[in-house]
Amino acid sequence: MDFERIEVRPIAGALGAEIAGVDLAADLDNSAMAEIRQAFFDHAVVFFLDQQLTPEQHIAFARRFGEIDINKFFEQLEGYPEIAQVRKEPLDTQNIGGGWHTDHSYDAAPAMGSMLYARELPALGGDTLFASMYAAYEALSPGMRRMLAGLRAVHSGARAFGPDAHANNAGREAQFKLSEIALAEVEHPVVCTHPDTGRKYLYVNGGFTLRFSEMTEAESLPLLLFLYRHAARPEFTCRYRWQPGTLAFWDNRCTQHFAVNDYHGERRLLHRITIAGAPPIAGAAAA
Ligand code: SIN
Repeated sequence: MDFERIEVRPIAGALGAEIAGVDLAADLDNSAMAEIRQAFFDHAVVFFLDQQLTPEQHIAFARRFGEIDINKFFEQLEGYPEIAQVRKEPLDTQNIGGGWHTDHSYDAAPAMGSMLYARELPALGGDTLFASMYAAYEALSPGMRRMLAGLRAVHSGARAFGPDAHANNAGREAQFKLSEIALAEVEHPVVCTHPDTGRKYLYVNGGFTLRFSEMTEAESLPLLLFLYRHAARPEFTCRYRWQPGTLAFWDNRCTQHFAVNDYHGERRLLHRITIAGAPPIAGAAAA
């Protein structure tokens, strides 16, 4: 597609593009929205520059892509349950998202995308890395792809948000609510097919995947560790340096992300809205 309403500038080989020339606070017409959707599918994570959004405008833009999936564990912005606060205070030692993960993979119908809007940034650092799970899948050998095709994996929020996750959360106690509901386990295919692009992607992540279905954690771990390391290979990633007013929108199905925790003693605050999705489609069943 040739873009006429937005300017799209790719930032890396595997994924990621900046989008300029659009005001997300405006009531965008269908042709502008179609270009934004296309850029989102082409690049898997897009960064809208120079936005000035109230919480209402952030919510209204997110709703153009679907229902909002209210996060069950993060601290909400007062008066706006749709907005989860991604916040690190100067005395916190850990951050939110400081490990490779896919948002909400612990849900039966994981979020389709997340929109993260920069409100307060440290002077330096606090970048976010993204990785393309299309690229990770496509770089596997044919034999490994065949082996993974029939596998499913168990995901849960227990390690991050379960009632016993205090030790994991030391240094960021005020950032989450720990809850029994995080113990629920769901199963997803390890290789999935994207419902819009038809491409296959790898769907396991170190944050929330516990084991392969019908296997023990010990049996699963060696292959899972290989896949986590593989998925984070530098050539599958991009690194984004936030600017005030940037809104990132990532496709949560075919990406992972990692928030770099290198700005101790400073505050960083972003507002995140996750958009509801559907249960992932098994890659093996794809045409
Ligand atoms: C997240 O994992 O959603 C947070 C990412 C970030 O803070 O950069």
